[in-house]
Amino acid sequence: MKYVFIPLFILVSCGNPIASKDASTLKFSDSNQEKLNEVIKLETIAQERKKFLEDKKRVWSEINADAKESFQGISEIIRNKCFSCHDANTKLPIYGRILPGINPVHKHQEDGLKALDFSEGFPFKATGNPPQISLLKSIRNAVTERTMPIRAYTLVYPHKKINGDDEKRILDWIDPVIEKLTEYELKYNSEDTSVPTVAHKVLEQKCYRCHANGNHKGSFENLQNTDELLKGKYINLDQPDQSKMYTIIASGKMPPNKLEALSVEELATVRDWLELEAKKLSKRP
Ligand code: HEC
Ligand code: HEC
Repeated sequence: MKYVFIPLFILVSCGNPIASKDASTLKFSDSNQEKLNEVIKLETIAQERKKFLEDKKRVWSEINADAKESFQGISEIIRNKCFSCHDANTKLPIYGRILPGINPVHKHQEDGLKALDFSEGFPFKATGNPPQISLLKSIRNAVTERTMPIRAYTLVYPHKKINGDDEKRILDWIDPVIEKLTEYELKYNSEDTSVPTVAHKVLEQKCYRCHANGNHKGSFENLQNTDELLKGKYINLDQPDQSKMYTIIASGKMPPNKLEALSVEELATVRDWLELEAKKLSKRP
């Protein structure tokens, strides 16, 4: 250590008298150094940013590739018990194809496919491309709560019900994927912590599947279009916390599945966002 300090000391003590001789030179070289420092700083930020984005892409494709491969282990169960209504390539038997307008079997496949299409394996398709994590959680709930396959179907085909062994195998596949995607979101998609962004993310995760991008359960739709949403009848910017969209989630009526209920923080973020929008509006001339 000593040996490093000695030459440094000599350098510094030599540099000072020269610099003090001519103040204008000093000023000039100082501003150059500042510029250089600034360039180095920007360069470093750009490099860090580049690496961050590269890592993000790499981690995403790793998660996808792993999940796609491990899904093979349970694809048999899914093919057997879910494909009748959740596979774009499954052709319905003749009794399901006749009179499509009023045929309940046809309707089940149509609605089932909109909600979830397993035909291309992981990542799964669904109307409006909701976030995968939202789809995965809904599959998890459908399996643990035995709400799928629908009752009308298992009444006729009792052997298509999900049993304990199916559940275990599906959870063994789905839980690690949900965990990895959650970590990914936290690490790579949580930079913007502003209230509007976080609130939108909550809605995206918890509502889009049924109310955005072509999904219109209960005629509540186009949640992705903020301007339209704020002007519509579900939002009341005079009394933000009386907005139907807010009261319906605050009362726990939406999302319909209690397992997906918003956390206290998520609820607060949505309210904060509406209050923010109300303030913006009141400031307008
Ligand atoms: C006989 C048809 C049928 C079968 C078989 C079936 N489903 Fe469904 N599924 C539906 C229908 C219809 C919907 C749409 C319900 C709606 O729109 O309210 C749906 C919706 C879903 C949803 C979305 C729910 C939500 O909250 O958005 C999930 C997840 C799901 N099914 C999983 C499964 C799984 C897993 C299996 C196999 C174990 C399965 N389904 C088997 C008919 C079926
Ligand atoms: C699994 C699908 C699903 C999810 C997820 C979901 N909803 Fe709904 N939503 C429905 C259905 C079905 C209806 C219509 C039936 C009803 O009113 O109970 C509905 C109706 C609504 C309505 C209209 C009620 C009315 O009376 O006009 C609002 C507003 C709403 N949902 C808000 C939300 C919000 C906000 C979220 C997310 C926090 C959400 N929903 C998540 C299925 C869903």
